[in-house]
Amino acid sequence: MRNLISEPQTRRPKYRDSFSIEGIQAGLKTRLFGKGPIYFYETIESTNVEAKRLAGAGLPEGALILAESQSRGKGRMERRWASPKGGGLYLSVVLRPDIMPQEVQKLTFVAAVALACTLRELDVQPQIKWPNDILINGRKVAGILMELTGGSESVDFVILGIGLNLSRSMKEFPRSIQDQAASVNMAAGRSIDRRKIIQVLLLQIEVWYELFLRGSFESILEVWRMFADMLGARVRVILSEGSMEGTAEDVASDGSLMVRDDKGTIHRVIVGDVVRCRPV
Ligand code: BTN
Repeated sequence: MRNLISEPQTRRPKYRDSFSIEGIQAGLKTRLFGKGPIYFYETIESTNVEAKRLAGAGLPEGALILAESQSRGKGRMERRWASPKGGGLYLSVVLRPDIMPQEVQKLTFVAAVALACTLRELDVQPQIKWPNDILINGRKVAGILMELTGGSESVDFVILGIGLNLSRSMKEFPRSIQDQAASVNMAAGRSIDRRKIIQVLLLQIEVWYELFLRGSFESILEVWRMFADMLGARVRVILSEGSMEGTAEDVASDGSLMVRDDKGTIHRVIVGDVVRCRPV
C-alpha cells in the first residue's frame, strides 16, 4: 500500500526535518523544477512507476516524486535498485520535452551531467561511467533510469529516475556489489544534507535540460567527456549476444560509445554494460 507523506498544498508534511516538501521548496532557485507538485512517499514500489502513473494523469513537467524507501526500485536493464530507508535518495522527475523518441537517449547524458555537477558543487569529485552511472573513486554512487512514454513519432512524457547512495555503509550493500558500490557520505567523509542535494540537483537538471532543449547537446557532451572515467581506457563491452574488448575512443553525437577493437574496427555501443579492464 502506498503511504503518502505529503501532497502539495493539501496536507502538512509529517516529517519536521528540513527534508520535507516545505523544506525543499524553501530557497529553491529553480524556475520550474520542484516548484510545482511534489509527491513524497514514506515507502512506495518505485518512484518511476508512480511518476509514470501520475504523469499519465496529467502531472506537469518539473513535478517531483520522492520516497524514503522503495520496495521494488527499478534499475537499468531490468535490474533492481535496492532502496532501503535512510540509505539514499530515490526520486523521479516528470519531463515533457518536445522531441522525437530517438532523441530521448540523449537525456540520460543531460541527467548524468546534472548529477555530476551537483556532486562537484558539493565538493565531491565524481566521474561518469558510460552512459550515466555516477562513480566516486571508481565506485558507483548513483544511477539514472530514464523511461519514455509515447508513440513512434512523439513523446508524451519522460520519467527521469535517480537513485543516489547517500549514507549506506558498505555492509548494507548486497554482497554482490560491495566491491563496486559506495555512498556519497562515505566518499566525502562527511554527512551531506539531503535537502541541499535535492535543491542543487533540481537546479542543475533544469539548467542542463533547458540547454538541451535549445539544441546544445554537443556542449553537454563536452562536459560529459570532462567527467568520463573510461575514455582512452581498455574496456570490455558486455552485450546480450556476448562480449568484446577494445579501447573506448569517444562518445558519438548520438551518445553511443565508440570502441576500437584490436583489429582497428570501431564499434558503436548503443545499449550495454561497459567495464574497464583491469591492468594485467
Ligand atoms: C541504474 O541501474 O543504474 C539506475 C538506477 C535508478 C534507480 C532510481 S531510484 C528512483 C527511481 N525509481 C526507480 O524505481 N528507479 C529509479
